[in-house]
Amino acid sequence: AKEPVRVLVTGAAGQIGYALVPMIARGVMLGADQPVILHMLDIPPAAEALNGVKMELVDAAFPLLKGVVATTDVVEACTGVNVAVMVGGFPRKEGMERKDVMSKNVSIYKSQASALEQHAAPNCKVLVVANPANTNALILKEFAPSIPAKNITCLTRLDHNRALGQISEKLNVQVSDVKNVIIWGNHSSSQYPDVNHATVMTPSGEKPVRELVKDDAWLNGEFITTVQQRGAAIIKARKLSSALSAASAACDHIRDWVLGTPEGTWVSMGVYSDGSYNAPAGVIYSFPVTCKNGEWTIVQGLAIDEFSRKKLDLTGAELTEEKELAYSCLS
Ligand code: NAI
Repeated sequence: AKEPVRVLVTGAAGQIGYALVPMIARGVMLGADQPVILHMLDIPPAAEALNGVKMELVDAAFPLLKGVVATTDVVEACTGVNVAVMVGGFPRKEGMERKDVMSKNVSIYKSQASALEQHAAPNCKVLVVANPANTNALILKEFAPSIPAKNITCLTRLDHNRALGQISEKLNVQVSDVKNVIIWGNHSSSQYPDVNHATVMTPSGEKPVRELVKDDAWLNGEFITTVQQRGAAIIKARKLSSALSAASAACDHIRDWVLGTPEGTWVSMGVYSDGSYNAPAGVIYSFPVTCKNGEWTIVQGLAIDEFSRKKLDLTGAELTEEKELAYSCLS
């Protein structure tokens, strides 16, 4: 039998946490033959709710779930974890300036970086979900210098999956037949959902999305804004932000990272930029990646047209600005 993998979920008493922990306990994240021990962290005001989630995990009698740690102690939460999904954060409240939200989150991610660095298992893989996701991940990376930069990522898979969903709805095809969309840049409304390399499997072989959709105005307009603003549309409809789709995307992200992407398929991940595609280096930027043996690699050599170039630059500039803002909060 396999040794259990320890998976940390921070903000586990929140709404994404509530959707995510049962998925992990059912093997959706790491496979149906991989036992797991869940580590759940939240803050003291949420301790009782967190304990309620723990009770439900016991009550669900998940065969793969070998243990549950539910705590408000960050050291206990981080100890020995192999995978860390960072969902906890300070939400933007009405009337708050961007800088105030940034400041709260930067200090959370700075202190959790140290706890992970000192107490997580070596080679722990980190996924930051909480917003501002890219910049929280960057701060985590900066304050955990002994964790390799390649182990620290942020979630843009939800945006990637939303793009797949929009194409599948437009063409009335199965979402599983659509692949290789790209989310470039920031997990914010400046992100660029790119379909220039995306394809659809049809009865007569693989076809470019551009060839099948035949509606450039939609692809260059409404498609992009729908994906960029989908989070806001969900909040408007549900009066709560996306939780089941965010939790599902977090599982997809870790699963593909650990178990590998299928041959010929790439996915989008926010990773520490080396300046590929002339994105700013030294920020967490979403790129197309393939994964193998537990490591991601940025897909190289894709043609970037003038329309795309502008959009890659715009979202890159926003990330550079967020990085400066984050540093100004620290000093
Ligand atoms: P929520 O407010 O329901 O849950 C957040 C939880 O984090 C709360 O239980 C809170 O007590 C906890 N928390 C706050 N500070 C903490 C700390 N220092 N340590 C541990 N836990 C802490 O929020 P929800 O809906 O679950 O969303 C969580 C985050 O994910 C938000 O920042 C949201 O903006 C972000 N998000 C990101 C997405 C992405 O695609 N990257 C998609 C959807 C949401």
